[in-house]
Amino acid sequence: MSYKFDLISDLHIDFWVKVNEPLHKAEKKLSNFVKGLLPSTPSKILVIAGDLGHYNQQNLLMLKCFKEVYEYVILTWGNHDLYLDGSRSRKKYIRSINRWNEMKELISSLSGVFVLDGETITVDNVTFGGTGMWYDYQYGIQVLNMTREEVHTYWEDNFSDFKYIKGGQPRFADELVKFENLMVSPLDVLITHVTPDWTPLIGTYKDERDIAIYSFDGASFIDRVNFKVCCFGHTHVHHDYVKQGCRFVNNALGYPDQGKGRKIRTIVIPS
Ligand SMILES: [Fe+2]
Repeated sequence: MSYKFDLISDLHIDFWVKVNEPLHKAEKKLSNFVKGLLPSTPSKILVIAGDLGHYNQQNLLMLKCFKEVYEYVILTWGNHDLYLDGSRSRKKYIRSINRWNEMKELISSLSGVFVLDGETITVDNVTFGGTGMWYDYQYGIQVLNMTREEVHTYWEDNFSDFKYIKGGQPRFADELVKFENLMVSPLDVLITHVTPDWTPLIGTYKDERDIAIYSFDGASFIDRVNFKVCCFGHTHVHHDYVKQGCRFVNNALGYPDQGKGRKIRTIVIPS
């Protein structure tokens, strides 16, 4: 018997719906936003592969709207979920990890919403596992013959992470430990924000160095992949292909100039 779930990532909700509206207005706007994303027949489960938005209270309201439709919402973090945007946010949280911990705490008050930070969850015999993952710069190092320092400088100069993530960047090695544990777990669906497979990204960016920031080297894992679907985000370019018998899907919403008309997609897991 096949099984299905719905997928979206990179919602960046604060780019779509103004923050700091009075509560009743915010709820209405977020509800309309969520309705506009829904497929005609939503599944029981929604997977969000990272990047909710920059403001925890707004994220929470959005998740409540999703919860009115979905029995389960399963999500992992993306780089933007660590951003401290604005002086108020920087003053309140000081360190990005404090904002993410608060988000997890807020989510724990919602029944049926689960954050995967290296964990797994099984719903109706289908096991989802996930973690945000980070960048190992390996596309730059292995393919573009750059040094680690050169890729790092490129990332610092061209990506907002360096400016908006405070109190230390996530460590790739820490994420890799979680990822390796997931790879030896009996999984059906893997959820990461950053893709372990850079091959489909080739040709999608004007500057190829971007791929070093949009992927990590998961080739050795993909060679022994034992799950059916890998969901990822971070890049806002859509992908859907099969490799080693695993379906890799990106269904990012992205920013308003990219995401108009995009919707949540239903993914069918073959039996
Ligand atoms: Fe991202």
